[in-house]
Amino acid sequence: MTNQIFYQEENMSLKTEYENQQQYRKWSLIVNKLPIKSDYVVAELGCGTGAFAEILSKKVKEVIAIDLNQNLLEILENKKIDNITILQKDISDLSYIPKEIDGIFSSFAIAYFPNKMEQILKNWFDKLKNDGWIAIIEIDDLLRGHTPLSKETLNKLAVFEDEAKNDGIYDFRAGRKISPILKNLGMEILLDEDLEDSELTSSGIISDEICIMWENRLNRLSFDKFFQKDEIEAIKSDFLSLLKSTKHINQTKVKFIIAKKS
Ligand SMILES: C[S@@+](CC[C@H](N)C(=O)[O-])C[C@H]1O[C@@H](n2cnc3c(N)ncnc32)[C@H](O)[C@@H]1O
Repeated sequence: MTNQIFYQEENMSLKTEYENQQQYRKWSLIVNKLPIKSDYVVAELGCGTGAFAEILSKKVKEVIAIDLNQNLLEILENKKIDNITILQKDISDLSYIPKEIDGIFSSFAIAYFPNKMEQILKNWFDKLKNDGWIAIIEIDDLLRGHTPLSKETLNKLAVFEDEAKNDGIYDFRAGRKISPILKNLGMEILLDEDLEDSELTSSGIISDEICIMWENRLNRLSFDKFFQKDEIEAIKSDFLSLLKSTKHINQTKVKFIIAKKS
C-alpha cells in the first residue's frame, strides 16, 4: 500500500489512531452539505474505518465504500450495514465499478497521489453520471502551517515534504490543488470552503489528547530516511513545544470542495 513507506507503524495501531481521529471530524455537518438524494449511489474513496460511510448510508440508496486497508475496512464490515458495499480495492482507477455513479466523496485520501492527482481525478470524473458530483476534503500545509517554527525545523520539514512528494508518497499541500484541477476538468465548483477541525486547524495551546495524537503522527513519519536521530528529536521537540505555546498560530487548511459534472 502506498502509505506503508510513509507510515512506519503496524496497521493495528494505525487502526486505533484513525478511529480516535473520528471524534474531531464534523461528519454530520459535512454530509448535510452534499447534493444528495435518497435514490443516489455514492462511492466513498479511501473510506478508512467507514465512520463517514455509515452516516452517508442513512441518506442515500447505496454507498460503495472503498479502501485498500483490510484492517480498517473490518470495522465497517462488522457493522453489517445493508446498503453499504465494501470493496478492498485501489481507488486510483475505478474501472471495477460496473456502473456510473451519482456522487464521489473522498476525505484525506487524494494527498496520497502526488503528481498523479490530475489523472486520478479524471478517472473519478469519468465514473460519474452526467450531473454527478465529486466532494473532496483534503489537508493543506499539515506540518509547516504551524508557526512559528525554527528556521532549522522549517528547512528540514521542507526537505521531507519535497521528498515525500517526489517519491509519490504524499503531498502535504494537496488541498490547494483540487479546485483548479476539478475546474480544468470542466466541472462547476458548487462549494469551496475551509473547514474548522479542532485536531487539524486549531491555534493556541492544544489539548493533551491532541498533542499525543500529534506525537504519534510525528513518530509515524519516516524522518529517519533523511535525518540523524538528534535532528529528528529537535524537529519533534520544536513542533510539540509549539503546540503548547500561546504563540502557536495554525495556518493549516482543511479544504472542502464540491464540484458538479455539467
Ligand atoms: C488519512 S486516511 C483517511 C480515512 C478517512 N477517509 C477519514 O477521513 O478518516 C487515508 C485512507 O486512504 C486509504 N488509501 C490510501 N491510498 C489508497 C489507495 N491507493 N487505494 C485505496 N485506499 C487508499 C488508506 O488506506 C486510508 O484509509
